[in-house]
Amino acid sequence: MPVTVIVGAQWGDEGKGRVVDYFAAQAAIVARFNGGDNAGHTVIAEGHKLALHLVPSGILYPHVTCLIGAGTVVNPLTLLREIQTLRDIGVDVSPAHLKLSAAAHLVLPTHRVLDGAADMKRGYEAIGTTKRGIGPAYADKMARVGLRAGQMRDPNHFAEAVGTLVDAHNERLVNLYGLPAQSTDQIVAQLHQAAVELAPYLVDGTALVGRALAEGKLVIGEGAQGTLLDINLGTYPFVTSSSPVSGGLLTGLGVGPKEVTRVVGIAKAYTTRVGAGPFPTELTDVLGERIREAGHEYGTTTGRPRRCGWLDAVLLRYAAQVNGLTDIALSKLDILSGLPSLRIAVAYDLDGERIEHFPAEWGAEAVSRCRPIYEELPSWEEDISGVRRREDLPAAAQAYVARIEELVGVPITFISVGPEREAMIVP
Ligand code: IMP
Repeated sequence: MPVTVIVGAQWGDEGKGRVVDYFAAQAAIVARFNGGDNAGHTVIAEGHKLALHLVPSGILYPHVTCLIGAGTVVNPLTLLREIQTLRDIGVDVSPAHLKLSAAAHLVLPTHRVLDGAADMKRGYEAIGTTKRGIGPAYADKMARVGLRAGQMRDPNHFAEAVGTLVDAHNERLVNLYGLPAQSTDQIVAQLHQAAVELAPYLVDGTALVGRALAEGKLVIGEGAQGTLLDINLGTYPFVTSSSPVSGGLLTGLGVGPKEVTRVVGIAKAYTTRVGAGPFPTELTDVLGERIREAGHEYGTTTGRPRRCGWLDAVLLRYAAQVNGLTDIALSKLDILSGLPSLRIAVAYDLDGERIEHFPAEWGAEAVSRCRPIYEELPSWEEDISGVRRREDLPAAAQAYVARIEELVGVPITFISVGPEREAMIVP
């Protein structure tokens, strides 16, 4: 069996964790391929609500090997904390079950401080990053001065390399940002200990995935963040520093495009965004507030309130193209129950011209000038959280789903109607 990729089709927080959890039941490997602990994937099962930041969402299945892949950036200290939290509730997070690619890059405590300092310096143009050190860690990777997880195999040499990089970071903190230096000795000691603990988890991730594919097993790629946060294809510069799209899986795990046979885009039944940047269908009124409260739209990682707005079919068409979506999983349809009516953006007005294509390439400023052209649809009153078949949804909800399929040109094969593992309409 081949590779299935699960990606966020909007600005992240679409509910990828539970769809990954669903697919994981059949999989041999579930692998994260981008991002770091800026992600927060929620899985609710077996009496637990898990907020996973680095550990892949297949961890609840004992038969699944969970891989943190080459394209990710990993903070060893938060990974160890997450492992401990999972262990405390009885989840197996032994090195037999969880693996860390030797090629993943590491996030140091100084990357986090640099992240906060850099975003603060941007002033009113701040991105509103998660302050997890993601941008600075990828910047070091691209500048070819970063540390790779594989270096932790030799904790003493690794500790030396950490010291050198922390000194370089401190120079920037002091001279560029006027901030106090972080204690190199303390960070070196912390990371030396972390290396000793994490060394047993290290693997050659591409070899692991290659073997599984050769044996005909199913590999799930778990994207973090969302399409519009992609460093190449998102609303630059209000993006993250990695590639959350399906293409990111190819380089982030080391598989060829022919292996990928299914690309599932997760889209909320409305749209949310956390952090700064353009958002054409944003609702800044009481309706936006109502969706935020009904949908508990607060960040899993940072607790920040998410911005909420109508579903945007222009954006989803773009996501369908750049990911090659084969199907869509529509999440949180239940949250729309009881709204007076519904709207979907079908096109934009950009400087008086109707456009159908999301103008991400022209940058955040162009997207911020787009005015959505809406189509209005009837809503429904019923609580749909108990519905398990599409044909049992109220007629207005069925029509809403069908209209999205028509506008985006991709079938909706999953619909979630509540937070529990079972609250999903599946094929
Ligand atoms: P960074 O990834 O921390 O550098 O943040 C860059 C942008 O991506 C900010 O707008 C964040 O709010 C956003 N972002 C990063 N990770 C996530 C996520 O997992 N869900 C939603 N937004 C995210």
